[in-house]
Amino acid sequence: METEAPTEVMQRHLSDRHDRRGHPTSDWSARAGGRGFLQRWRRATGGWQQQVFGVDIPGLNWLSETIMQQLPPDTIRLLSSSQTISSVVSVVKELVENALDANATSIEVKLENSGLDRIEVRDNGDGIKSVDTPVMGIKHYTSKISHHEDLEALETYGFRGEALGSICSVAEVVITTKTTADDVSTQYTLDKAGHIIAQKPSHMGQGTTVTVLKLFKNIPVRKQFYSTAKKCKDELKKVQDLLMAYGIIKPDLRIIFTHNKAVVWQKAKVSDHKMALLTVLGTAVMVSMVPIRHHEQEPEIFLSGFLPKPGSNPSSTSLISPDRSFISVNSRPVHHKEIMKLVRQYYSSQSQKDSAHMRYPIFFLNISVPASVVDVNLKPDKTQVMFHNKVRCT
Ligand SMILES: Nc1ncnc2c1ncn2[C@@H]1O[C@H](COP(=O)(O)OP(=O)(O)OP(=O)(O)O)[C@@H](O)[C@H]1O
Ligand SMILES: [Mg+2]
Repeated sequence: METEAPTEVMQRHLSDRHDRRGHPTSDWSARAGGRGFLQRWRRATGGWQQQVFGVDIPGLNWLSETIMQQLPPDTIRLLSSSQTISSVVSVVKELVENALDANATSIEVKLENSGLDRIEVRDNGDGIKSVDTPVMGIKHYTSKISHHEDLEALETYGFRGEALGSICSVAEVVITTKTTADDVSTQYTLDKAGHIIAQKPSHMGQGTTVTVLKLFKNIPVRKQFYSTAKKCKDELKKVQDLLMAYGIIKPDLRIIFTHNKAVVWQKAKVSDHKMALLTVLGTAVMVSMVPIRHHEQEPEIFLSGFLPKPGSNPSSTSLISPDRSFISVNSRPVHHKEIMKLVRQYYSSQSQKDSAHMRYPIFFLNISVPASVVDVNLKPDKTQVMFHNKVRCT
């Protein structure tokens, strides 16, 4: 029987390979992936000389079988974490929501180098009990729910016990916290699995400060995404838009947002949604807005907010993007295509200008429904919700 040189056997075989989607791989990609493949084959067959030159090639059995193996814990953690924490703004969102869940009335968000070098979120909330600190960064530990059924009565932003653990996987994390029961605050340094690796007393007051350093240091592609000035600027704008949304939803919340030590945006504590909207949108927009209020039974729905006055000028009450179209469901800022569509339809029907239907009205819609009729666990970033039986919101 004629034998072939090992490399030819291997290359022909690689060329016949298909990728995970079932598409044949090109010669180039087969060869590029071939080195790891050669090593795996060698490992699986315990050496390859006799298999290739002999008639029996045990390695081929291995090649034709699918061998499932469990991914290493580090890989599993990184894969899920980088979905939950996909951007600078997603880190800020998770940390701000933790602060709000801890009843903070003041939140300071400080970024350096667009958040890639440093993200710091400081709150004056309840703090983390010392008994909880060993697990605060461990995935699936939460103080907010105990069972899936608790989602039926969810009152907090968080519920998965994943955010801090996910951030630990993709950045360096330091948490300083103090409750009323503590004499002094303690600063904890966590490792990538969320375990405490160092701790020392610190001088901070009541509340929690989470510092996130070197975001995406272990995900070069994600980090590289922010390599242009435009991408960094866009991300800062997204952070500001998000903070504005919380600022409107929580009028009594004080927010300061700084970038490279310069204040980008801030909001003082105000009395109600209208005053909060005035801070965010300005008087020129608010004079063209009208308050709305609606209440329905079965299920109980409270709808309130501000919409552009009928016939108002689109140049002052709409934008070409939905950046100032604020929808909140149970105090959660969300994107909801159908609600947005309804408001846009209403807006263009009320406007005398044809261009209105192309634009996004400036508005704030605050929807409160029983937690049991809304599913908030649709997306890793919790920015979308699904209503049970399509609760009528019109
Ligand atoms: N700023 C904070 N103030 C007080 N406690 C906090 C703060 N941040 C986190 N914690 C505590 O750490 C726990 C873990 O936070 P993490 O964000 O990882 O999970 P979660 O908020 O419970 O759920 P989710 O992953 O949905 O956000 C929280 O349940 C809470 O007890
Ligand atoms: Mg959380």
